[in-house]
Amino acid sequence: MSVDPVQSRPEIENLMLESRTFPPDPAFTAQANATADLYEEAERDYVAFWEKLGRERITWYTPFRTTLEWNLPFAKWFVGGELNVTYNCVDRHVERGLGDKVAYHWIGEPGDTRTITYADLQREVSKAANALKELGVRKGDVVAIYLPMIPELPIAMLACARLGAAHTVVFGGFSAEALAGRINDARARVLITADGGWRRGKKVGLKHHADEALTDTPSIEHVLVVNRLRDGCHMVEGRDHWWGETVNRQSEHCPPVPVESEQLLYLLYTSGTTAKPKGIVHTSAGYLLGTSYTHEMIFDVKPNDVYWCAADIGWVTGHSYIVYGPLANATTGVMYEGAPDTPDWDRWWQIVEDYRVSILYCAPTAIRAFMKQGESYPAKHDLSSLRVLGTVGEPINPEAWLWYHTYIGGGKAPIVDTWWQTETGMILITPLPGVTTTKPGSATFPFPGIAADVVDAEGRSVPRGGGGYLVLTRPWPAMLRGIHGDPERYRQTYWSRFPGMYFAGDGAKRDEDGYLWLLGRVDDVMNVAGHRISTIEVESALVDHRSVAEAAVVGKSDEVTGQAIFAFVILKAGQEPSDALALQLREHVAYVIGPIARPKYLMFVPDLPKTRSGKIMRRLLRDIAEGRTLGDTTTLADAAVVDVIREHSGAAEEE
Ligand code: WTA
Repeated sequence: MSVDPVQSRPEIENLMLESRTFPPDPAFTAQANATADLYEEAERDYVAFWEKLGRERITWYTPFRTTLEWNLPFAKWFVGGELNVTYNCVDRHVERGLGDKVAYHWIGEPGDTRTITYADLQREVSKAANALKELGVRKGDVVAIYLPMIPELPIAMLACARLGAAHTVVFGGFSAEALAGRINDARARVLITADGGWRRGKKVGLKHHADEALTDTPSIEHVLVVNRLRDGCHMVEGRDHWWGETVNRQSEHCPPVPVESEQLLYLLYTSGTTAKPKGIVHTSAGYLLGTSYTHEMIFDVKPNDVYWCAADIGWVTGHSYIVYGPLANATTGVMYEGAPDTPDWDRWWQIVEDYRVSILYCAPTAIRAFMKQGESYPAKHDLSSLRVLGTVGEPINPEAWLWYHTYIGGGKAPIVDTWWQTETGMILITPLPGVTTTKPGSATFPFPGIAADVVDAEGRSVPRGGGGYLVLTRPWPAMLRGIHGDPERYRQTYWSRFPGMYFAGDGAKRDEDGYLWLLGRVDDVMNVAGHRISTIEVESALVDHRSVAEAAVVGKSDEVTGQAIFAFVILKAGQEPSDALALQLREHVAYVIGPIARPKYLMFVPDLPKTRSGKIMRRLLRDIAEGRTLGDTTTLADAAVVDVIREHSGAAEEE
């Protein structure tokens, strides 16, 4: 590549103009869970740091012998230990007398609600686990879960973990094809799904997608179907079972199965730079420790807090910070099924007021969407209960940070901008509330015990004030253990770019004070509304259409979603470009991958800029999409192509 993508990103200057700082409020510091000495303690001996936490925080059946076995890039944590993750998230709290404490305040989009205590969770999870057992699920099996944001989703995950079985949750917005691909890669034996859910005031069916996926998934033996919408759906005799009937007749007792620390807890699929999705492997003890400890420190969670992570459980944020981390800490959480604008743009603020939410964790894309609607919506509600705010998923621009701070946090709640990935399992770069002086737009410093660096193309540490590639230089407990079934791809993807270091795929800059500023992906993965979507997957979906010859996709910066998908499409000979066809192609992508991947812009072009070796120069396409002057074109095979595309650029279709 002729131009370093990190150097060519204009966000660097933008972010660096932000110089305001927000020191912690002494009153907050006085009561904070985290203290500044954690950094030193962890630095003295990071293995000893995690060892102590592992002994204190996890309830073991058999204590571990070795804290870390590190055969780069393969890590094993808490070796020799035996535990059960669900026992740690549910039963032990009930045994301590917290059975009546609320685990989830659940709010359905139409306004129906459910309150689930830890005792309820223990009962429901045990029954669900017994139902899975009846369907033949055993330790080591994989169960696929394709559900809306309803209580059965965390219940299903915990039921799997209770049996030592793994789950793979597929986001409810994904298509049948995406679901089938994940089921087949994981060789899941059982699928748990629902008739559908509510979204923007409408019933959205799910089971018909599942049925379509199931025509091509030989490993699935049984399907459990939650009856959320209550107006029936197609059921296949012998294969499909209603959750209600099957689960409700089970015993309320189901002993948790002890598993080894490194037992597979779940697979979660994420986009890569090839069309084949990667099954990220997370195991039990290290993951449980990493998520629960970071949750308590970073969100300053206290026993009486009402904590709301507004992500979908289908993404890693929900796995780590709606389910495992918070439950291990016996936290009271809020779970909301629907859209933020239903019935109106103050739905979230109504929920905060009604439940006295004290900690809110969400994505910058949501904040920008609220900003766009104006501060009158939050102003209608009493948000004084909020005392800590968090963000995740993409860099937050300083304007959005300040808006969040002012209109949601009342100018006082600390904001934690948390950087992490599906692969990292837990938050790795973040302020600690009460400790860190924040700067709007900076994720600040590595969490205690974590070592991160910013390096140049040769892997040399970049001095303060410089930009480069973000790397992690030491293992951490919740790290991915690999890519399912493909150790070589794991090594190649994360550990080969800079020998001995984990390459996150993100650009970063470290300012003169040592603060880290994340600059987005440096590969061909787009970040749309906090969701990573690889360009190659969208291109494959476009080319899959009979009219399309070739396609190239780039992310175009977008005020609301961070990046929006911009597709350049070459039609097959004899096919005429038209608005109708553009619409059809966008829908086709939504059908093949899911609505989240529907291109916002689509432009028909006669050709694409390519290098002499035939590689599409996405960098130039990004320039065109953004309306910028072109960067270096010296490696372009045919310079005239760009002019031709430019002439067409007026014709980009917006959704
Ligand atoms: C981006 C989500 C800047 C980043 C937990 C990362 C962020 C990718 C931040 C992972 C942040 C996440 N600031 N960028 N605070 N948090 N990212 O796997 O590009 O869905 O590599 O995990 O999101 O996305 P993933």
